[in-house]
Amino acid sequence: MVRHFLDIHRLDATELRAILDDAHARKAARKGWPKGRADADAPAKDRVLAMIFEKNSTRTRFSFDAAIRQLGGSAIIANSTDMQLGRGEPVEDTAKVLSRMVDAVMIRANDHEDVERFARVSTVPVINGLTDRSHPCQILADLMTIEEHRGPVAGKTIAWIGDGNNVCHSFLHAAPKFGFHLNVACPAEYHPDLHDLARAGNNATLTSDPREAVAGADVVVTDTWVSMGDQDYEERLEAFEAYGVDDALMALAAPDAAFLHCLPAHRGEEVTDAVIDGPKSLVWDEAENRIHAQKAVLAWCFAG
Ligand code: CP
Ligand code: NVA
Repeated sequence: MVRHFLDIHRLDATELRAILDDAHARKAARKGWPKGRADADAPAKDRVLAMIFEKNSTRTRFSFDAAIRQLGGSAIIANSTDMQLGRGEPVEDTAKVLSRMVDAVMIRANDHEDVERFARVSTVPVINGLTDRSHPCQILADLMTIEEHRGPVAGKTIAWIGDGNNVCHSFLHAAPKFGFHLNVACPAEYHPDLHDLARAGNNATLTSDPREAVAGADVVVTDTWVSMGDQDYEERLEAFEAYGVDDALMALAAPDAAFLHCLPAHRGEEVTDAVIDGPKSLVWDEAENRIHAQKAVLAWCFAG
């Protein structure tokens, strides 16, 4: 069976825990090393990762490239507009061709179904690097960051404030797998998909009140109010006005609460400068941890 990493809910809790443990171990083992040096075990030696981007990216692009190098492999990166895919070549034909040329494919796509279609015919592992529906790699990095600074994520309460978007969905998928509780606070018209909410079962609650969601929370997380591809910018700014994370909201969380944001941030909208640059913010470690978490994902894919 080819090991694809498409969504957190598709893996079992033991596999996910092992991936996160490997991410922690790989980070610890290379402390102080130059960023291009390969890990001692080099599990991707001689392997090539293709990366396809249909949307902009800074973190995902650089962290996957650094990750595959640190595993001993190399990357080929393309924007879909430079590929025949961008001129209408079928996803399935692209998947068959790339399966002959590379050892794994990471895709950032507009439409989640395109990644699923790619994976259905690909004979090499496919990794979801963000779609309109989910962002699983981000959440592994987020959980890793929480554990680094606050200990095991199991039993913690995480408050998601703002848009019930792709990143929120992956948090919902992760909650029952890692045993944390997610309090989601969204305006009624921007709630997460109810199917994704249901996947979290008793591990998630939905409210429209950000103060209720953050009360006593161990971690407060937010994201942009306008994701890539969203067209209703003005309506969103109005709907989310009461959902900005500021010091007053953080003060309602646990005294040592951490703040996370996948970035890019829109300072003055979903988060204030004081919070994102303040002592509770872990966003720069969170960004770095994209490398370590994705190395563990790639190693898991190749071990299959
Ligand atoms: N957080 C994240 O995925 O960032 P990029 O869009 O820069 O890749
Ligand atoms: N929700 C954001 C995440 C960016 C990393 C988006 O999809 O644009």
